[in-house]
Amino acid sequence: MLKTIGVRSLDELIDKTIPASIRSRKALNIPGGPLSEQQYLTSLRQIATLNKVYKTYIGQGYYDTIVPSVILRNVFENPGWYTQYTPYQAEIAQGRLESLLNFQTMVSDLTGLPLANASLLDEGTAAAEAMTMFFNAKNKDHDHITAPKFFVDKNIFSQTKDILLTRAVPVGIELVTGDFNNAAIDSTYFGAIVQYPDSNGAVHDYRAFIQKVQAAGGFVVMATDLLALTLLTPPGELGADAAVGNSQRFGVPMGFGGPHAAFFAAKDDFKRSIPGRIIGVSIDAQGNRALRMALQTREQHIKREKATSNICTAQALLANMAAMYAVYHGPEGLTRIAKRVSLLARTLESELAGLGYNNLNASYFDTIRVQAADPSAIRYAAEERSINFHYSGHYISISLDETTTQEDVLNILEVFTQVEGKGVVTATFDTEDTLDNIPSSVTRTSEFLTHPVFNTHHSETQMMRYMRSLENKDLSLNTSMISLGSCTMKLNAATELIPVSWPEFSKLHPFAPADQWKGYGKLLTELENWLSEITGFAATSLQPNSGAQGEYAGLLTIRAYHADRKEAHRDIILIPISAHGTNPASAVMAGMKVVVVKSDEDGHIDVQDLQEKAEQYKDRLAGLMVTYPSTHGVFEESIKDICQTIHANGGLVYMDGANMNAQVGLTSPGLIGADVCHLNLHKTFAIPHGGGGPGMGPICVIEKLKPYLPKHVSAAPFGSASILLISYAYIKMLGAEGLLRSTEYAILNANYMKARLEKQYKILYSGSNGTCAHEFIVDLRPFKASAGIEAEDVAKRLMDYGFHAPTLSFPVPGTIMIEPTESEDKAELDRFCNALLAIYNEIQAIAEGKADKTDNALKNAPHTQAVICADEWTRAYSRNHAAFPLPYVKENKFWPSVGRVNNTHGDRNLICTCEPVSSYAEETVAG
Ligand SMILES: Cc1ncc(COP(=O)(O)O)c(C=O)c1O
Repeated sequence: MLKTIGVRSLDELIDKTIPASIRSRKALNIPGGPLSEQQYLTSLRQIATLNKVYKTYIGQGYYDTIVPSVILRNVFENPGWYTQYTPYQAEIAQGRLESLLNFQTMVSDLTGLPLANASLLDEGTAAAEAMTMFFNAKNKDHDHITAPKFFVDKNIFSQTKDILLTRAVPVGIELVTGDFNNAAIDSTYFGAIVQYPDSNGAVHDYRAFIQKVQAAGGFVVMATDLLALTLLTPPGELGADAAVGNSQRFGVPMGFGGPHAAFFAAKDDFKRSIPGRIIGVSIDAQGNRALRMALQTREQHIKREKATSNICTAQALLANMAAMYAVYHGPEGLTRIAKRVSLLARTLESELAGLGYNNLNASYFDTIRVQAADPSAIRYAAEERSINFHYSGHYISISLDETTTQEDVLNILEVFTQVEGKGVVTATFDTEDTLDNIPSSVTRTSEFLTHPVFNTHHSETQMMRYMRSLENKDLSLNTSMISLGSCTMKLNAATELIPVSWPEFSKLHPFAPADQWKGYGKLLTELENWLSEITGFAATSLQPNSGAQGEYAGLLTIRAYHADRKEAHRDIILIPISAHGTNPASAVMAGMKVVVVKSDEDGHIDVQDLQEKAEQYKDRLAGLMVTYPSTHGVFEESIKDICQTIHANGGLVYMDGANMNAQVGLTSPGLIGADVCHLNLHKTFAIPHGGGGPGMGPICVIEKLKPYLPKHVSAAPFGSASILLISYAYIKMLGAEGLLRSTEYAILNANYMKARLEKQYKILYSGSNGTCAHEFIVDLRPFKASAGIEAEDVAKRLMDYGFHAPTLSFPVPGTIMIEPTESEDKAELDRFCNALLAIYNEIQAIAEGKADKTDNALKNAPHTQAVICADEWTRAYSRNHAAFPLPYVKENKFWPSVGRVNNTHGDRNLICTCEPVSSYAEETVAG
C-alpha cells in the first residue's frame, strides 16, 4: 500500500500529511488499556455490579418495558440493522424506510394527527422543536415579533421545562408557566404546551384550553404517551396542532436515559416546517412503489442558516424497534397491555386508599399519586425492597408499566403496610373491563393501526421473517464497506455492543438515585477524562445526543462566556462556506448571526476573507465554527493562524469534530488552538449509525469555558447514556497505541485509495505534500460534459457492484467523498477501487461513442432482479453486464430492491403513512 502511495513508511506518510506545527509527539494518557475483548468484558462485569437494578416506578417519561426477544435479537443486536446508514441511497434502504414508514403510521394513528416524522432525539427536544415551529409560523417577520410568549403548563415533565427554557432564551421566546385551567391567553402568545397524562399522572380534557389558545391565534402541542393513547382520545381529536413524546415504552430499554426515539406529529399545515426526516412514498423508474426521504430540500445541508431545526442524526434504530413492537403486538395487543397496566393501577389505588393513602389523580392511566406525612419513611422501606418511586416534597407518585405484575403490586403495598404498621398484605385484583379511571369524555373510541402490517405478524416466526425480509433490502456494513466521507462508517465491534443489553446498564432509569448508578458513574467519569485527554481540553460534557446537539451546546457555552464578561452583544459567528449544514442551523438556534467565509481555489478557508471579516465584526464577533481536518479532507496548515485571528478579535473557536478520525493521537483540537469542540461518538468512537441514529455528540472545552457548560440540552442527564458504553469499550480496548494506529491506518487507507484512483479520476484538494487526510473528494463533474454522466449515476451504478455510494455532493456538488476508515482491509479497498475503475471504463465507453448516451448501464442503474429477469430485455447492453459487471459480484450479489427512485413525484404527492390497502390491490392480484 505504501508503495502504491509512493512513500517508504507509514511514518513518512503521516509526517507528510499532518502539519508539523500541530503534530502531537506525546502519547495519549489512557491508563489501564489496551485490553483484549475477554479482559474487557471481565472488567466490565465488575463495574456492572456497581449498578443496582431496582424495580422502578419513577415514570416521568421513562418506563420499564419488555423488549420482545425477537426484536432484541433481530434488530437491536443485529448488524444488518444497526450498521445501516441514513437512507440517503433509497434504492438499497427500502427495508428501513418501510419500517420508518410504519413508525410514522403508528405515531400518526395513535396521536390522531395526519403527519408524523421519523424521528427526533428525545421528548424534551421534540417539545422544543414544536415550540420553535409554532414561533416561526406565527412570527414570520423576525424583526417584528408580535407574539413572543409560549405558555407552559406547570405539570409537564420537569426535564422538558428545562429544555424549553434552554431553547427559548437565545431566540427571544418568553416562557410563561402556569396552570392551564386558569391561564390568561391573549394574542401575544404564539402557543402552549400541556402534558397528557400530566407529570403527576392525571388525565385532563384539554379541549376547552386548546380552543382558547387557538381562538387567540396560537397553537397547542400536547406531550403525550403512546401506550396511554391506545385508551385515551388522541390529541388530534382534542384539536391539538401537534403532539410529541417518547416511544421508549414501546419495547426500547430505558438505558439510563437513552437512546430512544422521540416522535413528532402535526396537522397538515406544518408539512413544510416539521423538523427532522419524513419518509414518503414515491415510485421508481419502472413505476413501482418505492420509499425515500421526502422533501429533502428541507435537509440542513441545503437550508443552512435558513433552517429552523438542526436535526440530522436522530434515533432511527430505536424508531424501528418501537415500530416493530407495534407490528408485533398489533392494536389489540397494545390495548391489552395498556388495559392491564391501568387495571393494576386501579387495584393499587383502591388498596392504598384502604391504607389511608388516597390517590390525588381524579383520572389517570398508569400513575397513582399520594401524599405522605413522612415520605422518607416510605422511601426507606421502598429502597429496602429495591423499589424506586418518584418523590416530590410530600408527594409520591407510582407509575406502573408493562412489566408490572400482581406480585409487584403486592410488593408496593407491602412498603406502605410496613410504614403504617399494618399486618399482612392482601389485594383484590381488578379485572373489570370498564376503566372508570378514564372519564368517557377522553376515552378513545377511534380505531388505530388498522393497516395490515400491524395485523399480520404476531407470531415469532412471522415476525422473524418480516424483519428479515426488510433487512434483506438494505445494504449495511455486513455486506460491504460504506465509504461515506464525513460519516466514518467504521467497525462497530460486537464486544463493544454486547454490554448495552446487560440489565445492569439497560434497565436503569435516568432519574434513579445516585447510589444506584455507581458503575455508570465510574465509567462515565473515565470516559469524560479520556475524551478531554484526546481533544487536549480540560472538561467534557456527555449530554448532547447528536453532533448537531453538540454544536448547539458548544455555541451556548460560547454565548454564556461572552455574556458573563458583559459582552452579550457578541453574536456574529463566522462559518466557512464548506461547513456542514448543521453548523449554521445550530448557530441560528443559539441566537447568532451567521457570516459566511469563502474558500479559496484549493478548497481551503480563504484566510484573507476570514481576516477581513473577523476584523470587520471585531466588536460583535462571538467566534468561528470550523471543521478540522476540513470537510475537503485536508489538514489546513493555516489553522493555528486562523484560530489566533479569531482570538485576537475577541471571538472563540468552535471545532466541529466530525473528522476526529483523522486526529486522534496525532493532533488535537486543543493543539490547533480551538476552545470547544463536539465529538460524534457515532463516527470516530464506534457507536453504530443505526440507519440514522442513535448518536452521541459530547462537547469538550478549555479550562476557562468549564463554568459555562450548559446543563439542559438533552432530556436525560447523560443523553443516550447506555451507548456511551460503546465508546468506552472502544477506547479501553484499543488503548493509547491502538487509538493512534487506528488514525494512522485511516489515513493510510484513504491515501491508498486516492493513489489507486487518481490516474482515472480527478481528486479535488490535497495537502501541500499531495496527501489527503482520512477522506478525499473525487470530482465527477468532468463526465457531465464528456459523457452526460452525473454524480448520481455513478452513485446508483455502484449499487450494481454491491456498494453503497460514498457521500454524494457534499461539500462540493457533483462529487463523491470517500472515507474508507481503518476498519477495511486491503482486499475490500481494492474491490471498491476496482468497481470505481470499471465504472470509469463504462463512462469512457459512452464518451467514445461505444455505448449509448442514454441507454447505458449508468443511466439505468441500479438494476433490480425483476428488470434483469424480465421476459423482455431491450437494452443496448447485456443483462450480465448490468447485473454482474465484475467477477466478484457473482459470488455475493446484493440486489437493490427497487429501481431508481423518483424524488419529485413523491414530493408532489406527499404520502407519509402506510397507504390504504387498496393501493396494494395490484400486488395482491399479481401475487
Ligand atoms: C461535518 C459534520 N458536522 C456535523 C454533523 C452533524 O452531526 P449529527 O448528524 O450527529 O447531528 C455531521 C454529520 O454527518 C457532519 O458530517
